[in-house]
Amino acid sequence: MNDILPEEARSWQHIESVFRNVASLYGYGEVRTPVIEDTALFSKELGETSDVVEKEMYSFRRHDNELTVRPEGTAGAARAYVEHAVWGKEPSSRWYYVGPMFRGERPAKGRYRQFYQLGCELYGDAGPTSDAEIIELCVRVLQGLAIKELTVHLNSLGSSGPGETNTRARYRAALLDYFTPRRAELSDDSQRRLEKNPLRILDSKDARDIALAKDAPSTLDVLSDDDRLHFEGVTAALDALGITYVVDPRLVRGLDYYTRTLFEIKTASADLGAQNTLCGGGRYDEMIEGLGGPKTPAIGFAMGIERLLIAHLASTQKETSAPWLPAVYVASLAPDDAGAKKDATRTALSLAKQLRDAGIRCDVDTRDSKLKAMLRRADALRTRACVILGDEERRTGMLTVKDLANEVQVSIPSAELVERTLELIKTPVHAKGAAS
Ligand code: HAM
Repeated sequence: MNDILPEEARSWQHIESVFRNVASLYGYGEVRTPVIEDTALFSKELGETSDVVEKEMYSFRRHDNELTVRPEGTAGAARAYVEHAVWGKEPSSRWYYVGPMFRGERPAKGRYRQFYQLGCELYGDAGPTSDAEIIELCVRVLQGLAIKELTVHLNSLGSSGPGETNTRARYRAALLDYFTPRRAELSDDSQRRLEKNPLRILDSKDARDIALAKDAPSTLDVLSDDDRLHFEGVTAALDALGITYVVDPRLVRGLDYYTRTLFEIKTASADLGAQNTLCGGGRYDEMIEGLGGPKTPAIGFAMGIERLLIAHLASTQKETSAPWLPAVYVASLAPDDAGAKKDATRTALSLAKQLRDAGIRCDVDTRDSKLKAMLRRADALRTRACVILGDEERRTGMLTVKDLANEVQVSIPSAELVERTLELIKTPVHAKGAAS
């Protein structure tokens, strides 16, 4: 679990704001659900045999309730959707969320025990074009963060229709047929999960399972006609949107609730190793009904902010220096006369107040530092201007205002501070080191 200090938090805010803007461009509104839910919600929806439920949940008992700190956002959002009978209020709903999730995984770069997800869930639209649209949304977020070398991986798990149309049951049977004679070669986890959920073997990280899974049957070979039509609808809509993808029949994902479309978006541009999956999602047409609502199709995705940040920095760091901020640094130099010190500090503070009253972001430095040190600090903070208040200024009622980006300074009457500063921060940056 990580502390995010202010400098880094600025990049987080940038990522969140790119996401919020794109989500609202597609008509999504924010939902905020509790961080703690009943344990049963997760074990039922994510699957008893998933790694998340079996090994990673932070669960506890309080007031006779079995509770879990959420490992993901989909189940809680679906619970809220059903609990508030949203299905009765509008034909389809588009929700997004931003927040911390908790999984007791083995930590690595891009894999943490508390991590943040940005996610979207769309309820009430069964059509394949909505699958393509949500993938397009993801790509737009990633491109908005200048993340490069993206690959969309796509697969379909099929659905659980009656009889022969039950792709999932037929795929399960095909996997059992394939793995049962090879049982002894599987990892211990996979041997244990074989009868309950053979799909999990395809998602295993164990080298023995990976070797065996290579030749396992593909879900695409057993799709029912309806499921195949849906999948073809998704790929055709992606083609029409100009989104490239690879069909990856081995993609199963680690959670049990998926039906039909599954997707992940990976990047090769950052040094993320096995954690290069920035985004994962898919359709889960059976969850809402399973939670007590009417049969309602749903699709969604989530992205890990920490991974987005690593990938974003990898692609932007070399290209731009930090921009100058339309902000001001008020540098109050220590008066020669020690008795005047308090007055000087108060004057500096009242200058800062005038600037802030006018909506100008402002730092005020009353530490008695040397001018050079204060200018260095103002530069490090990328503040556009520095207002200098020294003995000379105090005597004459004038202020020195330095444009740090253009490396010019002017002397102005203190009464004109706000007006002249507003002008200055609007002046284009010409000096070297300027950012676009
Ligand atoms: P997920 O694949 O488990 O899916 O997680 C989605 C994304 O969250 C991953 O691709 C990754 O970027 C990030 N992530 C997951 N675990 C960690 C971790 N331990 N540390 C850092 N980042 C992590 C879900 O959670 C589904 N709820 C997505 C979804 C929404 N499906 C339908 N709707």
